[in-house]
Amino acid sequence: MVDNIIIKNIKELVTCSGFKAKKGREMQELNILNGYSLLIEDGIIKDIKSSWKDLEIGKGEYEIIDGEEFSILPGFVDSHTHFIFAGYREEEFYERFKGTPYMEIMNRGGGIANTVDKTRGAAKETLLNLGRERIKEMLSMGITTVEGKSGYGLDLDSELLQLQVMKELQEEGKIDIAATFLGAHAFPKDFHGTKLDYIKYIIKEVLPLVREKGLAEFCDVFCEKNVFEIEESRYLLEAAKSMGFKLKLHADEIASLGGTELGCELGAVSCDHLLQASDHGIKALASSKTIATLLPCTAFSLKESYARGRRMIDEGCAVALASDLNPGSCFTQSIPFLIALACYNMNFTLEEAITALTINGAAALGRENKIGSIDIGKQADLVILKYPSYKFLLYNVATNIVDRVIKKGKVIYQR
Ligand code: NIG
Ligand code: FE
Repeated sequence: MVDNIIIKNIKELVTCSGFKAKKGREMQELNILNGYSLLIEDGIIKDIKSSWKDLEIGKGEYEIIDGEEFSILPGFVDSHTHFIFAGYREEEFYERFKGTPYMEIMNRGGGIANTVDKTRGAAKETLLNLGRERIKEMLSMGITTVEGKSGYGLDLDSELLQLQVMKELQEEGKIDIAATFLGAHAFPKDFHGTKLDYIKYIIKEVLPLVREKGLAEFCDVFCEKNVFEIEESRYLLEAAKSMGFKLKLHADEIASLGGTELGCELGAVSCDHLLQASDHGIKALASSKTIATLLPCTAFSLKESYARGRRMIDEGCAVALASDLNPGSCFTQSIPFLIALACYNMNFTLEEAITALTINGAAALGRENKIGSIDIGKQADLVILKYPSYKFLLYNVATNIVDRVIKKGKVIYQR
């Protein structure tokens, strides 16, 4: 495999150009170049020119790709997943589909606790293998950076293990992984004490080790009625922030609790879900740097109404879209399906959906300087579609049309 690539005469280069999140109307801008050529060296986008003859090519070997028949986009960034878990919950899912609410299953000891039991019981090698399998799927759909959360351990050793697994998968180099500590995903059945005691345990015993070992960049919390309420979430997030973690929240997913406002107040990088975000919460997002990360595959799988994404964009928020892949509320990471839901059911334009999956997804991981667009100096993470126009992402509905994926300048997936 050669490290340097020239892609000549690209029919359509959807650059999504920019080094910061796009808000509101800016989300419509894809900055498309037609007939341009791209130079990739050492995993970086080195040059973009209207004629390949003008590319400033160095010495060494180059793979030449003819781009005449293709639309090329930045690699997709899936900025919210729980992809390290063992076991499945198809029976619960089936029951929920027939009408039992998600929270009812959780309150009787199923739900997240069910996956915690299975994940705690899994060997590291098992989790690594499951992670590898899932990463293969991600790459085939054009995902080149994924966020992954702990939260199926809920005690020191098993939370650290989940994070350690992600670190080792990162080192394998196929995909970039942004790791998030989600020890406050549920209250562990075997913990003696109150919810606040558990939060204090996390702050005192777990977070310092996570930081010391460099295992997570973000701290997240399931801020939800009867899970971790606003004050418990605030207590954790303030402590995590003072320890240097960036913040994320599962906010206003099932009840309208005000997690969105809390996230904006604390300068969270993103607030996620937002099905029940209030008007006030949407205003807070619009006037902050916090990204509104929407997860329509979860709303679909829960048979809930979608987050008010159209309104958020119209009010000037920076919106990202992510899969939320997890074994409970959303067992899919299908990017084509995600795009279809955003466009057909949430009234996003296709351009907004693409922005939400690229530069805004990158911003939801604090990586907007490095990935999420095709700009000189950025990491060469690219998706080559098998068609000449990005409009096929809407037209060839819910179908994977990725032909090739380039990760850090290497063709890592080919149909
Ligand atoms: O993002 N809402 C909380 N956490 C996950 C679901 C986790 C699970 O059910 O296993 C979510 O939807
Ligand atoms: Fe989630």
